[in-house]
Amino acid sequence: MITKNINNIIDDLTIGNVVGLPTETVYGLAANAFNEAAIQKIYSLKNRPTSNPLILHTHSIEEIYKYIIDNDSNRTLLELANEYWPGPLTILLEKNERILDIVTSGSQYVAFRIPNHPLILEILQNLPFPIAAPSANPYQSISPTTANQVYYYFGEKISYILDGGKCACGIESTIIGMEKNDLIIYRQGAITIEQLKNKIENVKVNDSGSSSIKTSGMSKTHYAPKTRMIIVNDIEDYIRNNKHQKIGVLSFDKMNMHSIAKNYYHHLYELDKKGYDIIITKKFINTGIGRALNDKIQRAISK
Ligand code: TXA
Ligand code: MG
Repeated sequence: MITKNINNIIDDLTIGNVVGLPTETVYGLAANAFNEAAIQKIYSLKNRPTSNPLILHTHSIEEIYKYIIDNDSNRTLLELANEYWPGPLTILLEKNERILDIVTSGSQYVAFRIPNHPLILEILQNLPFPIAAPSANPYQSISPTTANQVYYYFGEKISYILDGGKCACGIESTIIGMEKNDLIIYRQGAITIEQLKNKIENVKVNDSGSSSIKTSGMSKTHYAPKTRMIIVNDIEDYIRNNKHQKIGVLSFDKMNMHSIAKNYYHHLYELDKKGYDIIITKKFINTGIGRALNDKIQRAISK
């Protein structure tokens, strides 16, 4: 059921249940990161292979230090993340033995972020453990940005979904890590490449899967609607020339990039429900958030 009462959530997480939680990026399907059975439930609810690891959420850097080894690259990443946290940046850190293998799919790296939503932060501050939370959608479906959408996906299969309103960012966190002395972006997201380049010299994007580190956002098909989707140069033109088709248009005229990101998944999800033959869209200007959105569109169309 959808609730606004965080005490229900705190109790449920404590006894090992899985709940839906708001973050500033997208809603997460959340459980105690140290409860193996609860983590297993996340994988099976999402129908996600256990080879695809889970992000951990916590409320402070001091907490994170309990679960990682103390080395230079971990410290550099934490220093950088500190500029954006709480916020939509996820960092891959070398973990210590306290982190369960099922959380990282056996990798020596663990993904951490401090989310920027008052409700999840309050919950984290009241719990003695970090929360594992992938986006609250079935494997390979569109990420949810409202509590209703999480309910649509999981219904009563989870006890509670905390209603924290519509997510402010609307797209997932940016995932980064260090390789040698370079900062690597493994998944483009709400923190832009330009923002990171302002802080650190060597920034590379490797979201194609050629690195030893893999994230699911790298797969060629991801974040995709069930309806076929294509990119066109001119929307009006396409409609004029394809009168026989039932066409859904994913377009965001006169909105600024932040509102576009906030509404992107929601619009796509609504269009996907309508039974169109095809969804058409245009590319955004390839800078800032536009670049992250173009990346998502590209993966949504390459079927
Ligand atoms: O904004 C977000 O990051 C949202 C909210 C709920 O925090 N979460 C999210 O989780 O997008 P998810 O699971 O849908 O995407 C996380 C990505 C996956 O592609 C996963 O493979 C990668 O992070 N990931 C998680 N832990 C990892 C690890 N230890 N090493 C490499 N990749 C990891
Ligand atoms: Mg996801």
